[in-house]
Amino acid sequence: MIRMNTQYAELKESYLFFNIAQKTQAYLRENPGKHLLRLGIGDVSQPLCPAVIDALHDAVNEQAKKESFHGYMPECGAPYLRETIAAHYGRRGVTLSADEVFVSSGASDELGDILDLFDKSSAALVIEPAYPAYVDANIMAGRRIVHLASGRENGFLPMPDDTADADIFYICSPNNPTGAVFGRAQLQAWVDYANRRGAVILFDAAYEAYIEDETLPHSIFELDGARTCAIEICSLSKTAGFTGTRLGYTVIPKTLERGGMNLHAMWVRNRTTKTNGVSCILQKGGAAVFTDEGRAQIRKQIALYKHNAKTLTDALDKIGLWYCGGKNAPYIWLQCPDGTDSWTFFDLLLRNVQIVGTPGAGFGRCGEGYFRFSTFGDPDDTAEAARRIAALLG
Ligand code: MLT
Repeated sequence: MIRMNTQYAELKESYLFFNIAQKTQAYLRENPGKHLLRLGIGDVSQPLCPAVIDALHDAVNEQAKKESFHGYMPECGAPYLRETIAAHYGRRGVTLSADEVFVSSGASDELGDILDLFDKSSAALVIEPAYPAYVDANIMAGRRIVHLASGRENGFLPMPDDTADADIFYICSPNNPTGAVFGRAQLQAWVDYANRRGAVILFDAAYEAYIEDETLPHSIFELDGARTCAIEICSLSKTAGFTGTRLGYTVIPKTLERGGMNLHAMWVRNRTTKTNGVSCILQKGGAAVFTDEGRAQIRKQIALYKHNAKTLTDALDKIGLWYCGGKNAPYIWLQCPDGTDSWTFFDLLLRNVQIVGTPGAGFGRCGEGYFRFSTFGDPDDTAEAARRIAALLG
């Protein structure tokens, strides 16, 4: 008889953002016509920038002509895009060879797929509160999870100690959901610890473009020793509005070896088996993000989201609620007022002021009592949300 993956029984009944979408839809069914102010899932509200749109149109036209038509793309990414991304790292002083960059169809897919490299018996360390997919992907794979709690006392930036007894370390900086960012010395301590233990860091850099304090590291490869312990997973979703378009990249240094195996070579083997590459049209669009024109245009979009962050944090300052994030990250993480639990606060905001946020408890047990606002929303809606929050809680 066929045997199913019984690990699925260990998962929460539904995924956090699916849960929120269901609750929101139920509210709209009861209250038809209400306009919701959406500060929940980190989904962008601004269209792709003109440089990307032009490149996508050109790429579609290329597919219409025999002389420029592309069939299968190279599985690990188009050479021109891998070179472009390596050059982008080069501008920050990180030297990569183009073939250390793998083009992907987005960070969330990749964060799950990359687990193919590790045996089931290896344990995964998740710093909580955390993006719930880290936990769920490892539960599905039947892996032991070490939950490392963080809190206000350490600025949601815990340091490694011997309780971090695991083989795969998830580090997301700037962090989703807390918006906290590891400083150079702190991240160096994680790199050193991973090298000492023989662990591998999966560094989620999806929000690096939001760093404005240039003393903070954008990439783990800015740290000494990262080339022997880290994989970096990044995406154009939040950098350039590709949440619906889907494009990302993963960096695996050729110097990363564990258990006598080379992880770069393993990933080439994996990709050449399991994918036929990312769409040639999207890769052309992705390359446009890194042109001078594209970079200038996405800087403007990021500035708009940062303005949203300022609007919201000004309101929180006025009320006097504790929060972090929103400065070098697109998420604001706040403490619910008067000891309210996070799902009660979710309902309170939805029912009283039609604001959708994300309950901190959805990011792990130590997120209880906290709440996350995304700053990727429509600017008018965000300004209105700030007004309503100040009126409700002020
Ligand atoms: C979030 O809201 O945490 C993210 O948008 C989810 C994602 O990137 O998949």
